Amino acid sequence: MFPHRHLLGIEGLKAPEITTILDLSEAYVAQNRKTNKHLDVLTGLTQINMFFENSTRTQASFELAGKRLGADVMSMAMQASSIKKGETLIDTALTLNAMHPDILVVRHPNAGAVNLLASKVNCSVLNAGDGRHEHPTQALLDALTIRRRKGRLHRLTVAICGDIAHSRVARSNILLLGQMENRIRLIAPPTLLPSGIDQFGVEITDNMEEGLKGADVVMMLRLQKERMDGAFIPSEREYFHRFGLDEAKLAHAKEDAIVMHPGPMNRGVEIDGTLADDINRSVIQEQVEMGVAVRMAAMDLLARNLKAWRMRDAEVMV
Ligand code: NCD
Repeated sequence: MFPHRHLLGIEGLKAPEITTILDLSEAYVAQNRKTNKHLDVLTGLTQINMFFENSTRTQASFELAGKRLGADVMSMAMQASSIKKGETLIDTALTLNAMHPDILVVRHPNAGAVNLLASKVNCSVLNAGDGRHEHPTQALLDALTIRRRKGRLHRLTVAICGDIAHSRVARSNILLLGQMENRIRLIAPPTLLPSGIDQFGVEITDNMEEGLKGADVVMMLRLQKERMDGAFIPSEREYFHRFGLDEAKLAHAKEDAIVMHPGPMNRGVEIDGTLADDINRSVIQEQVEMGVAVRMAAMDLLARNLKAWRMRDAEVMV
């Protein structure tokens, strides 16, 4: 059903495995709405969160997810340390590994850093975002939100708009939505498109009206200024005028199209603030709610495998 040791990306996940995570997440959505949210699924297990990049939603939801499932959760303040990639990262991994964690949740500014770390430890590793590479739990929580709102996760037209070049959210979403056979439209100025993106089976345009036409889902992305090493847009004002989502531009999408954003938002840059708060169109808060449930489901599935593998290894040793 979900034969994986780690969750490092959407790449490598098959459609039924994605469905397995989403189905289990539904049970956790219901559980999270109860007054007593506590379960014993991860009791006795140690979860360490290592965020080498800033995070609000992702870190908080991983921490809550672990606590609600009964794990011992520790969040390390990595930003404060002077740690860099390469040897130092591996040293940190080995140090933590010696403390016998069961689950490591890692966010890192370098693409590939989380995969490297996973190869050095003997616990389950979840990628909470690595550079421009992948952010699998974000794509899964987006998928759950879409599936609940649209009643299905296939044959939808999904427009992904904005800074695609610097976005791991876009990359993971393109992989997931493509795997589930949806039509994906990327809307961005050419400067904000990664090279080689045309090989991903997507339609590409720099015209919002054209790209939003008939869309069921409109996913807006933050301008990732921290990853830009030059001028990618003329000005924020000009960018909002051409690519910022407001009611007038949204009118080109389907009448019941939903508006999504992974957060944090730059209001008035990629999205109009009033539209972002419009509960008839925007599902941004629902995405946050789904985030906790999806992370509970992912850690639950990985922990089941971890326990089974350790038991099997122990038998082989005897
Ligand atoms: C995203 C990220 O960190 O990749 N945020 C998130 O996890 N909710 C998107 C972003 O930072 O713009």
